Amino acid sequence: MAKEFKRYLVTSALPYANGPVHIGHLAGVYIPSDIYTRYLRLKGCDVISVCGSDEHGVPITIKARKEGVTPQEIVDRYHAIIKRSFEGLGINFDIYSRTSSPTHAKNASAFFKKLYDEGKFIEKTSEQYYDEEAQTFLADRYITGTCPKCGNEKAYGDQCEACGSTLSPDELINPKSAVSGSVPVKKSTTHWYLPLDQYESFLREWILDGHKEWKSNVYGQCKSWLDGGLQPRAVSRDLDWGIPVPVEGAEGKVLYVWFDAPIGYISATQDLTPDWEKYWKSEDTKMVHFIGKDNIVFHCIVFPAMLKAHGGYILPENVPANEFLNLEGDKISTSRNWAVWAHEYLEDFPGKEDVLRYVLCANAPETKDNDFTWKDFQARNNNELVAVLGNFVNRALVLTQKYYGGEVPALGELNDYDRQTLEEMGAIKSQLESNIENYHFREALKDAMNFARIGNKYLADTEPWKVIKTDPERVKTILNIALQITANTAIAIEPFMPFSADKIIAMLAVGKFGWEQLGQMGLVEAGHKIGTPTLLFEKIEDETIQKQLDKLAATKAANAAAEAAQNITPQKEECSFDDFQKMDIRVSTILEAEKVAKTKKLLKLTIDTGIDKRTIVSGIAEYYTPEQLVGKQVLVLVNLKPRPLKGIESRGMILMAEDACGKLRLLSPDEKTMSGAIVG
Ligand code: 2FM
Ligand code: ZN
Repeated sequence: MAKEFKRYLVTSALPYANGPVHIGHLAGVYIPSDIYTRYLRLKGCDVISVCGSDEHGVPITIKARKEGVTPQEIVDRYHAIIKRSFEGLGINFDIYSRTSSPTHAKNASAFFKKLYDEGKFIEKTSEQYYDEEAQTFLADRYITGTCPKCGNEKAYGDQCEACGSTLSPDELINPKSAVSGSVPVKKSTTHWYLPLDQYESFLREWILDGHKEWKSNVYGQCKSWLDGGLQPRAVSRDLDWGIPVPVEGAEGKVLYVWFDAPIGYISATQDLTPDWEKYWKSEDTKMVHFIGKDNIVFHCIVFPAMLKAHGGYILPENVPANEFLNLEGDKISTSRNWAVWAHEYLEDFPGKEDVLRYVLCANAPETKDNDFTWKDFQARNNNELVAVLGNFVNRALVLTQKYYGGEVPALGELNDYDRQTLEEMGAIKSQLESNIENYHFREALKDAMNFARIGNKYLADTEPWKVIKTDPERVKTILNIALQITANTAIAIEPFMPFSADKIIAMLAVGKFGWEQLGQMGLVEAGHKIGTPTLLFEKIEDETIQKQLDKLAATKAANAAAEAAQNITPQKEECSFDDFQKMDIRVSTILEAEKVAKTKKLLKLTIDTGIDKRTIVSGIAEYYTPEQLVGKQVLVLVNLKPRPLKGIESRGMILMAEDACGKLRLLSPDEKTMSGAIVG
C-alpha cells in the first residue's frame, strides 16, 4: 500500500544567479514542478512549492570579476530577471527566495555549526592550486591545461570535454589559471569534509532497497555512485563570497555552495511560513525535489547525508530528475549563448506563455536527452494547440452564441454515443491523475489534451451545424455536452496551460473549478449566459520562426568568430622600417605550375617576377590545383635566399595568408598589375 501523506513540500533546484534561465531549465525542472504543484493545489492538498536563487559559488565571483562589478550586483541583476521570467510564465512558487538572504545565512551557518560541534566533520589539510595574481584558490573548473589522455589543450581541471575523461587538476599538463591566465602554484589549505563513506549503508538501504520506484536514470546514478564507494567531500572553500565558516580561525573560508544551497530550501520555507517545521520535520509530509540530472548526486546522496547527520529532518520521497534538453541539435550553453532565454521569449511572444509551456512539456527530456527545434514549436502550436484545443473550444462557444445567443441550452435525453463520450472522459481522468502522480508529465499532457480531442470528435461526429436544420432539440443536448467537455478541458489543462484554462473559464463566465469536478457533467448550467468567445491560440507564421532561426544563426556566427579570434597568433616583435625595406616584394605572374612528385603539398611554379623568370616551390597544393594558378598574379618575396626543396632550387617565396585553421590563401593585386611592380 502506498503511504498516505498529509501535505506536500515541492522544491525546485535553485537556479544560479549568474545568468537568466533558458528552455533547458524550464523543461527539465520548473515546468514539471509547476505542473505537479498546480495539480495538488487544484486537488485542494496542503502543498507548498519553494524555490529561490542560488547566489553563491565561484562562477558568480568570476563573472563579477570579468565585468568589474561586485558579486552582489551580479546576483541582484539575475535574481530579478529570473524571478520575473518565472512569474511571466506562470510558474507559481509560493516563495521565490534567495540564498543571500539573512535567514539563509543564519540557517546555513547554524546547520554547519551543529555538525561541527557534534564532530560530524573531518578536518583535512591538503595542497591546492592557488592563483597568486588573482590571489585566489582555484576550483577545479578554473584550471585549464592539456589533457593527459588526448592532448586537448583546453581541458578543465575536472574534465576534458574533448575525450570525456574525468580528470583531477593534478593530471593536467601545463596547468593555467582560467581566472588570470597565470601559472598556479600549490598552497596548503585546511577544510572540513563530510565523511560520506560513513553514510553509505544508510544511503544504500534508503535508496537501493527503499526507493526502487525512483526513475531509472536517478536510481541508476545513485547505484553507480554507491557501488563506486563514497569519499569524504569538502564542505568549505577558500573564497571571499559566500557564508563564512562559523568556526574560529576559519577566516577567508566560506561554506561550499553545494553545502549551503540545499539548505536554501529550508530557509525559503522559513521565510514563507512560521509553520515551516511541519513541512520539514513531519513524516506526514511528502517532499519531492525537482532537479536536472546534473544535480542528482547532491540531492540523492549529499543533501540526504547532511540531513541525516543533522537529524530531525525528513528525506525526499522522490527526486524525479530529468535529462537535458538540446537546442536545434546542439547542447544548450550559457557561455556560448546557445539557448532560448525565458525573458527573451516572453518579449518576443507576448501572450504565448502557454505555447512554450505546452511544447516544453510535450517534449520534456523525461527519460533521455531531447531536442527543441523552432519548427517543432511551430508545428505543435499550429497542429495541436490551434487545430485541436483552440478549435474545439471555439466551435463549442461560437455555436452556443450563434444558436442560443450565448445561453447554455438544456440537456435532453442522452443517446448511446453521448453516454460513451462521457464515459471516455471519466476514464481519462484517472489515467491523467496517475501520470501526474508518477511524474509522467508528457503522457499526462496527452491525457489532458484528449479532453479537447474527445470534444472535437464529438462535434465532428454529431454535426450540430447540420442537425440544427432537421432536429433542433437534439442540438441543445449536443451543445450542452460540448460545453461540459469545454469546462472539463479547462480543468484538465490548468496544471499545464494555466493562462488558457483561465481564458476558457472567463469565456464560459464561470468561477474557478476544483479538480474533483473533472469528469463531471453540469459544470455549466442550462440557462447560464456565457461570455464572448475569442481565439485561444493563433497560428504561428513561418516569418516568426525564421526570425528565431536567424537569431540562432547570428549566435553561431558570433561564436565562430570569437573562437577564431582566440586562435589568432599574437603580434610579433616590432621591426624597424629599415628591416622592412630590406624585403623586396614584387607583383609576379605564374606562368606554369606542376605538382612536385611524391609530395602532397608542394607545387613547382615558374614565375615571371618582372626581373626574371624563375622557379619557386610552394606548399599550396592542398588549396590550389595547377590549372587554377596559371595566369594568376601573386606577391613574391624575390630576395629571399634560394633554398633547395625536394631537390629543386626555390628562388623566392609566394606570400600567403594563413587562417587559424591553417588554411592558405594567395594574395593578389586587386586589378591586373605589371609584373615586377614593387610592393611596399
Ligand atoms: O545546478 C544548479 O543550477 C544549482 N544552482 C542547483 C542548486 S539546487 C539546490 F540544492 F539548491
Ligand atoms: Zn582529453
